Amino acid sequence: MGLGLGMTANGAATRRRLFLRTWGCQMNVYDSGRMADVLAPLGYAPVDAPEGADMVILNTCHIREKASEKLFSELGRLREMKREREAAGAGMVLAVAGCVAQAEGAEITRRAPWVDIVLGPQTYHRLPEMVARASRAAGAVIETEMPVEQKFDHLPEGAASQGITAFLTVQEGCDKFCSFCVVPYTRGAEYSRPAAAVLAEARRLVAAGAREITLLGQNVNAYHGEGPGGRVWGLGRLLRALAEIPDLLRLRYTTSHPRDMDEDLIAAHRDVPALMPYLHLPVQSGSDRVLAAMNRGHTAAEFLAVVERLREARPDLALSSDFITGHPGETAADFAQTMALVERVGFAGAYSFKYSPRPGTPAAGAPLQVPEAEKDARLQALQALLREQQEAFNRSRIGLTMPVLLTGPGRHPGQVAGRSPWLQPVHLLGPAALIGREVPVRILAAHPNSLSGLLLAEDAPSPSLRAEEPAPA
Ligand code: 5AD
Ligand code: SF4
Repeated sequence: MGLGLGMTANGAATRRRLFLRTWGCQMNVYDSGRMADVLAPLGYAPVDAPEGADMVILNTCHIREKASEKLFSELGRLREMKREREAAGAGMVLAVAGCVAQAEGAEITRRAPWVDIVLGPQTYHRLPEMVARASRAAGAVIETEMPVEQKFDHLPEGAASQGITAFLTVQEGCDKFCSFCVVPYTRGAEYSRPAAAVLAEARRLVAAGAREITLLGQNVNAYHGEGPGGRVWGLGRLLRALAEIPDLLRLRYTTSHPRDMDEDLIAAHRDVPALMPYLHLPVQSGSDRVLAAMNRGHTAAEFLAVVERLREARPDLALSSDFITGHPGETAADFAQTMALVERVGFAGAYSFKYSPRPGTPAAGAPLQVPEAEKDARLQALQALLREQQEAFNRSRIGLTMPVLLTGPGRHPGQVAGRSPWLQPVHLLGPAALIGREVPVRILAAHPNSLSGLLLAEDAPSPSLRAEEPAPA
């Protein structure tokens, strides 16, 4: 295949073009960044398009929808590109990473033998070695086991700058085995990184310009990492330590499970001002029957009780959630309970999906599959309600003064864009020199997915999130 490592005689890496295509969740975005970090010492630098790339990595997602069909159609297009490059005397290393790679393994190279490397999410620290092996071997390299060695121990320290807002994986994998979900099979058992490693990575991100860090994990609030002196730290303790880092203005974490919302974490929402008042807490359904069938391990009332405790701790907290319509066995009455729960909580945002069977998961083979049209009708009704709630929440910000973290230039000249404490995009007129700063903004208008406002003088009295009551929605 002629795919060398690109080392010159004196050991320096030659420049090579790396195209990374990422599907799916924020953890895949983070993983893609780390794959780029791992390959940087070999001379690979990211480019924006696959044309002319020396290496293409497709980082896949398997959680919903027709993931493998999407992958194979993309691989079909890349086959042509690879052929053309080979005809021109160049090569293209083609790798499939992520959860589809983990789930399908050798099936990928059987159907697409022009793929050089198939790697699961737990092995990307070994990419350089795989690239070397792919260049020597006649066949493809497939690495989808879940090694005992932890990839985090083998990743380079100099994480590339992610900008003003950054992701940081603190926990990976899941032991909960919800009936519908592939994550426990593709991402493996729950693992928490030691607190010291998380703190060191956060300090590096802040030194590279990050002002807001979102901690990532499939089950992030199940975090139980090794702390100083061999003690175990939960997520609340970790957030308190992270909040001490100078210049780190904002913290968030995602995705949480209602069962792991412990006292200390709830208290952190009261005690840690840097912890933003917006929480993604998937509930999936409002029916106890369906929650039991889903193996969620909590009832609707228990979810509501967690929400109440969180709101007591942080009265301005807004919530988002995930929902599935048409899980096997879901009746119209069950779905009505989901609608009732949504009415009762009032969400500021949400993701909702039709149930889609994932091969190998218990729900896929369960009786009483719900007809597609029914799933769809329920999804439409749910989304209409959730959209209404999101718009009402956005409108309720009008008239408030709030700190906005400016993250970049706006769409129009003279505009800058940022994020509200509730993760809403905010547009305003202001100088680009303020990008990276948190500035006081008075919200003037609300749109379905964003806000616009007026920059207040920075010497204006420090804005308070809690002092002003939201305008009625
Ligand atoms: N079908 C539909 N939605 C799913 N999700 C996970 N698996 C499935 C599935 N098989 C949704 C859940 C989860 C979110 C990330 O994706 O709502 O919280
Ligand atoms: Fe999947 Fe989340 Fe359930 Fe784990 S807790 S199995 S990641 S839905």
